[in-house]
Amino acid sequence: MNPAATFALPAQAAAAAPLEVAWRPLQEGDIAKVLDIEKQAYSHPWTKGNFADALRSAYPAQMLCAGPNVLGYLVAMKGVDEVHLLNLTVAPDFQRQGWARLMMEGLVLWSRGQGARQLWLEVRASNSRALEVYRRFGFVQMGVRKQYYPLAPNRREDAVVMSLKL
Ligand SMILES: CC(C)(COP(=O)(O)OP(=O)(O)OC[C@H]1O[C@@H](n2cnc3c(N)ncnc32)[C@H](O)[C@@H]1OP(=O)(O)O)[C@@H](O)C(=O)NCCC(=O)NCCS
Repeated sequence: MNPAATFALPAQAAAAAPLEVAWRPLQEGDIAKVLDIEKQAYSHPWTKGNFADALRSAYPAQMLCAGPNVLGYLVAMKGVDEVHLLNLTVAPDFQRQGWARLMMEGLVLWSRGQGARQLWLEVRASNSRALEVYRRFGFVQMGVRKQYYPLAPNRREDAVVMSLKL
């Protein structure tokens, strides 16, 4: 396992969690399970190739698991003094229980440990739920990428670019 891809679970969050929850590195053999969640969670899910590319590039990719259940997962990319969050997903059955917040806390701790000073992400302008989660976590809007995401045949949607100072 790439040690750079290991996240620390905040002790406080672990103590508050009602389940025995653990981070596990997202590996090739997990892609099918994660793709099932992607298809439930997104109108435009990541493909098998997207995950395989991320793993091949050794991007930090972690799942949050409770026994056999995957609660959620994230994929990030490390820059010189910043980290870019590429995918943050909580399985629909486990949403609104604080897992996204817990995963973000883990990512922040890990990113600080890597010497990063800023966390970046893009989110669909229509994804009000994710926008709210990120705002509540302290992210601020830094800009908009026009027509960034595919929406429907011949239609695209803006991305909101957000950042969090670490
Ligand atoms: C967006 C997503 C990751 C949030 O995960 P989650 O585990 O449900 O979020 P949490 O339960 O940790 O919520 C975190 C905060 O957002 C708030 N929140 C969560 N869902 C909300 C909603 N539907 N409306 C308003 N606020 C919401 C919570 O109240 C919480 O705030 P608080 O801690 O101050 O009380 C999850 O809904 C998801 O995976 N969606 C589909 C995929 C997606 O859109 N990913 C993001 C792509 S950029």
